[in-house]
Amino acid sequence: MANARLYAFWGALTEGLKTGEPQNEARTGGEIFAAIYRDPDRLRGFLAAMTAISAGAAHAIAQQFPWSDYKSFADVGAAQGMVPVTLARAHGHLTGIGFDLPVVQSVFEDFVGENGVSDRVKFQAGDFFRDDLPKVDVIVMGHILHDWNLEEKRRLVAKAYAALPKGGALIAYDAVIDDERRQNAFGLLMSLNMLIETRGGKDYTGAECQAWMRDAGFAQTRVEPLVGPDSMVIGVK
Ligand SMILES: C[S@@+](CC[C@H](N)C(=O)[O-])C[C@H]1O[C@@H](n2cnc3c(N)ncnc32)[C@H](O)[C@@H]1O
Repeated sequence: MANARLYAFWGALTEGLKTGEPQNEARTGGEIFAAIYRDPDRLRGFLAAMTAISAGAAHAIAQQFPWSDYKSFADVGAAQGMVPVTLARAHGHLTGIGFDLPVVQSVFEDFVGENGVSDRVKFQAGDFFRDDLPKVDVIVMGHILHDWNLEEKRRLVAKAYAALPKGGALIAYDAVIDDERRQNAFGLLMSLNMLIETRGGKDYTGAECQAWMRDAGFAQTRVEPLVGPDSMVIGVK
């Protein structure tokens, strides 16, 4: 993804900074995912790249989060399904849902099948701005909030809150920026990448995300480092 897509788009950084317009497949209008998913090769390539970019975080989330307290989860914007597969393989008592746009279904189901967890991990097609989120104990959003503007971020956090039971948890993971915006260079560069990729997306600090969660009603929030530049922000309802 870095070579075939992003390298050339970063060549138009100046244009992106001047105009605020995306410099990727969505440059001529439309929304990033519709633009990428129009081409089946780009669709598969993008979703496989998501597996690579989320593999480290998936293993850390499987180890660090108290999964024995919960039975079900949904990975909202699951892509190929790296997080659901990793959680299901690590914890035999869990059942999971991969929630994503309908066009992602066959790529997701192939990957889940190859990893031997089709009995416990199912796909649910939906649009997270239009449809209700699955009613499960834990909702995961990986590299989702950074794709969208502030109002959309808050809407997604509120939708997760509405779907969860009391005691349920939202895990949002990204290259969460340190609150002083001085340390996590990868997170700051990823935020600039979202300027190139989207109209309103940007990365965020742990304090910002916890504030959105508290505003949505979450009773407890915390930030936990995962691997490398990634952290998860956890909100418990
Ligand atoms: C940046 S990828 C992140 C994938 C994965 N969570 C990860 O961390 O590797 C964003 C995902 O959100 C999905 N997505 C985008 N818009 C969506 C929508 N409106 N409803 C549901 N899923 C959506 C995309 O198809 C894609 O799989």
